[in-house]
Amino acid sequence: MFKTAKIRGIAGLALAGAMAFSLAACSGGSSDSTDAAGSDGELTTVGFVAVGPEGGWRTANEQNIQDSFSKENGFDLKYAPATNGDQNSQITAFTSFIDEGVDAIILSATEATGWESVLKRAQEAEIPVVLLDRGIEPNDTSLYTSHIAPDNVGISSSAAEWANGQFPDGAKYVVLEGPPGLSVVNDRNKGWDDTIDANFTKLESQSANWSTEEAKSVFETILKANNNDVQLVFAQNDEMGLGAALAVEEAGLKPGTDVKIITIDGTKAALEALAAGRLSFVAEYNPLFGDTAIEVVKAALAGETVESDIVVPSVTFDSPEAATEALPTRKY
Ligand code: AHR
Repeated sequence: MFKTAKIRGIAGLALAGAMAFSLAACSGGSSDSTDAAGSDGELTTVGFVAVGPEGGWRTANEQNIQDSFSKENGFDLKYAPATNGDQNSQITAFTSFIDEGVDAIILSATEATGWESVLKRAQEAEIPVVLLDRGIEPNDTSLYTSHIAPDNVGISSSAAEWANGQFPDGAKYVVLEGPPGLSVVNDRNKGWDDTIDANFTKLESQSANWSTEEAKSVFETILKANNNDVQLVFAQNDEMGLGAALAVEEAGLKPGTDVKIITIDGTKAALEALAAGRLSFVAEYNPLFGDTAIEVVKAALAGETVESDIVVPSVTFDSPEAATEALPTRKY
């Protein structure tokens, strides 16, 4: 299995996409179902070590992966969601897939660390592993075939750029994070921290575990502790941003006016809230990359060169008008 340099940015994706598709072509592949099913018509078995129910983004992503790796497309996808987000249940499923001798494994990790030994076992069994969305830390690219996700660092950097423009004299802000230790949380913190202007003041950075209810409770407490003197929230996903908006309203303040709220994911609920002025900036974290994942798995199984890092393109929405215009055609 050859490794190639990281690809970054939309252009990179187009290149990766083209390479992945062309590789499928050169290995006699195409997007029709017989190719992935192999010449004898047998289905390609793929073990999906998944996160499971977590929120709107996760539902959209895992449904898209299951729809893509369908029998019609030549795959037998074995879906294994984590038990209550527990990594041990994922490692158990991962190990079972190796013992079963699946053709490939795709993994969305509930934790960034602790994967080395099972990834090495998959390598010894010559089973390609493709990481979806979540990365591993340390990021040893020799342990997996490819990582497919939007660019978390770039997405949160674009959010901070928007904040810099909104508050030229700075602002007091709060970060509502996902669960500690996740690669996406670390990357979103990095993109934000590397870009936000020095005249901003971070009052608090606290996990609300991707949850609306928890975010409402956490931000209510922070507002009270700061006498409502908070102008900005960077919520690392939509559900937590919507929770912050509820807390702002409970405090008798107006979200979008008294407190601007930024979120990441781009679900319909967030765009509806942006259209209504309850959120102020929504950065998409595009969950719909099942087609790309199929091409990467097929190229890997054909022994072709596979990009080690494939960036999925994502857009941002910075006004009610932009959200209103996009809503009719949104797919999640
Ligand atoms: O890993 C992606 C994150 O996980 C999404 O931003 C969040 O909504 C999901 O739970």
